[in-house]
Amino acid sequence: MGTENKVIRCKAAVAWEPGKPLCIEEVEVAPPKAHEVRIKVAASGVCHTDWAYLYECGKGMKPRPFPLVLGHEGAGEVESVGPGVRGFSPGDKVIPLFLPQCGECECCLSPKTNLCSKNWENTQQGVLADGTSRITCRGQQVHQFIGVSTFSEFTVVPEHNITKIHPDAPLDRVCLLGCGVATGYGAVLNTGKVEAGSVCAVFGLGAVGLAAVLGCKTAGASRIIGIDINPDKLEIAKTFGVTEFVNPKVHSKPIQEVLSEMTGGGVDYCFECVGNVAVMRAALESCKPAWGTCVIVGWTELEEMSLSPIDILLGRTLKGTYFGGWKSVEGVPRLVEDYMSGRLRLDEFVTHTLSLEQINEAFALLVSGKSIRTVITM
Ligand code: APR
Ligand code: ZN
Ligand code: ZN
Repeated sequence: MGTENKVIRCKAAVAWEPGKPLCIEEVEVAPPKAHEVRIKVAASGVCHTDWAYLYECGKGMKPRPFPLVLGHEGAGEVESVGPGVRGFSPGDKVIPLFLPQCGECECCLSPKTNLCSKNWENTQQGVLADGTSRITCRGQQVHQFIGVSTFSEFTVVPEHNITKIHPDAPLDRVCLLGCGVATGYGAVLNTGKVEAGSVCAVFGLGAVGLAAVLGCKTAGASRIIGIDINPDKLEIAKTFGVTEFVNPKVHSKPIQEVLSEMTGGGVDYCFECVGNVAVMRAALESCKPAWGTCVIVGWTELEEMSLSPIDILLGRTLKGTYFGGWKSVEGVPRLVEDYMSGRLRLDEFVTHTLSLEQINEAFALLVSGKSIRTVITM
C-alpha cells in the first residue's frame, strides 16, 4: 500500500506556543503540491536556532507564527513528488534546505552571494509558496519553521529547497550539513576566505564554532584561538584543531585586549559563533586594525550591535554570512562527498543520539553546554 497522493499520519514535535516544551503529537502531512517534494525524515540535528526561536521569541528573535514544527538540520529520503517535479524520485537520499537555490533569481545568477530570494517572505512566515503549510494537527495549520520542519517523521518542501546526495551517505551524520557544520565551515572558506598562515580566532565553540575551527584548519591557519566561557569546551576544541584556548571569564581585561596582547596587535580573522551583540563587537575589536576581518556567524535579530567608526576606519572589515555562503543545492552534496572521502569530519560533532520523544532533553543538553550536537533519529 503506497502512500503517494495520500495524507500521511505520523509523529512530530509541535511547538504550540513560545517558551513551552515541544509536544509529541500525531500530525497529518498532506501530499506535495506542484513543485514540492514529500520527505521521510531519517535524522535531524538540534541547532541553537531551533531552541532560540522557541525560548527567545520576542527577546533575541522576531516572533514567528505558532504553532510550528521546528527543525531545519535534517536528512531523509524522498517519499513522493508533486506535479512538475523533475530531478527527484521516491527513494532518493536528500537534505532539505532552509535556503533554496532556484538558479534563476538575481542572487542565484550572481557569483557574489548565495542568498536565493525564492519564496523568502513565505519561508520566514513558516509557509510554502501558496501561503499554507502541509502540516496540520488537531484541525489547525502548523507552520513549517523556515519552510522545513525536520522534527517530524515526514515533511514537504519546495523542489528548490532540497538537494540530492550520495545514496550511501549516512543520514544521521550528513544531516549536520543542513545547517550548523555547513554554516561554520563555509563562513571561513567562502565568506572570510582565510589565507594560509593567518592567525584566526573563533568565538563560541558549539557545533557552528567548531566547524569554523575545521574551516580554519583546512585553510591552513597558523594559529586558531578558540574562545568560550565554558571551560569544558577546551578538550573537545583541541581535538578539532584549536591551538590555544581562552576563557574570557578568567581575565579581568576585555577579551579584545587579551587577544591583542597574545597576537601582537590583533588577529587576521575573527568568527563570531555565539549570536551575542557584545561578543560581536569584541570580535571586531580583536581584529588587527589595519586589515583584520570579522565575520558574524551567530544569529540574533532584535538587538542592535554598536561599534565605534574607528573600529573600521583604519581598515578592518565586518562581514556576515548566511548558510556559510554555500549555494545550497550545489554546495551541500559536495560537502557530503567531502565527508565520505574523509576530508571533512562530522562524526566528532555528534555527542548524543536521541529519539523524537526525547527532543526536549536534546534542548536541555544544548543549553547546558553538555552536547555539541544531538541527532534525533526517527
Ligand atoms: N563568549 C564566548 N563564548 C560564549 C559566550 C561568550 N560571551 N556566550 C556563549 N558562548 C558559547 C557557549 O558556551 C557555547 O559553547 O558559545 C557556544 C554556542 O554554542 P551552541 O549553543 O552549541 O550553538 P551553535 O548551534 O553552535 O550555534 C551558535 O550560530 O547559527 C547560529 O543560531 C546559532 O547563534 C547561534 C550560533
Ligand atoms: Zn534563487
Ligand atoms: Zn541552524
